[in-house]
Parts: sequence; C-alpha cells; structure tokens
Amino acid sequence: MKKILLLNGPNLNRLGKREPGIYGVTTLKELEEQMVRLGAENKIEVICFQSNHEGALIDKLHEAEDTGVDGVIFNPGAFTHYSYAIRDAIAGITLPVIEVHISNVYEREEFRHKSVIAPVAKGQIAGLGLLGYELALEVFKREGKEEE
Ligand code: DQA
Repeated sequence: MKKILLLNGPNLNRLGKREPGIYGVTTLKELEEQMVRLGAENKIEVICFQSNHEGALIDKLHEAEDTGVDGVIFNPGAFTHYSYAIRDAIAGITLPVIEVHISNVYEREEFRHKSVIAPVAKGQIAGLGLLGYELALEVFKREGKEEE
C-alpha cells in the first residue's frame, strides 16, 4: 500500500477560523479526514501531521524518508517564502514533495510571490482551495501505475 504524508505548516491548525475569506471555513481536522478517506478509497494510506514549528516539520520530512513514505503533500505556510532549512531538508531526501497552497499566492502580497521550496519540489499547486490537496493525492495515485 502506498503511503503519503500530508504535512501542514504554521497557522494551518487554524483553518476554518483563520481568515475564512481567503482560506475557507473547512477545519484542518475535516481536511485531514477527507484526505484519509480519499486515500483509503484509492488504497493509499494518508498520514497527517501539522506543526507551527520549523524543526518539527524538518524532523517529519526526515522521518518520512526513513520510514518508507512514498511522497509528501506539503503546505509549508509562510515558511514557503523564506525557510532555507526546510528547502534543504527537501533537497536532502529522495521523496517527491508536492507543494500546495490554498490561496493564489501570486495575486497576494509581493512577499508571497517567492517560494524557496518550489525549486526542490516535484511541483506546485496554488490557488485552488482545498481541492489542491486532493489533486496532489491524485498525482501520487497515478504515479507508478505504469509499472504495476
Ligand atoms: C499558504 C500561503 C502562505 O503565503 C501563507 O503564509 C499560509 C498559507 C496557502 O495555503 O495559501 O500560511 O501557504
């Protein structure tokens, strides 16, 4: 069974309450439950983790690499824009990481236009709301199909 880590960074624990006009009214718990359900329907185990702390996110990426996870769906929150430590952690593992942003970061403040993660990510999905997470899962679902 494929194993995918759903990783959410700072302030995403506040989904549903935090700036609902931008991030919507769905809570992180609801998002995680939906992703686990969608994964199960597709024979994919989805493991969920959220942290507001840079080091904890880095530890989780290392752990994912060492415990047979097949890919990571990662919304690094504001760390996206400046965390070289998270970027290095992704560069240092072999796992494919798909970067997801709920909002369209490119139509927002200038500081959100730069992602230090994107160059080491498999790809980036931004501005499609929570659907972006599901689309990332779809990518991992299709991956490797050819070899089966
Ligand atoms: C975000 C966009 C980031 O700029 C912001 O800091 C977040 C959420 C998004 O999902 O749209 O925390 O990653």
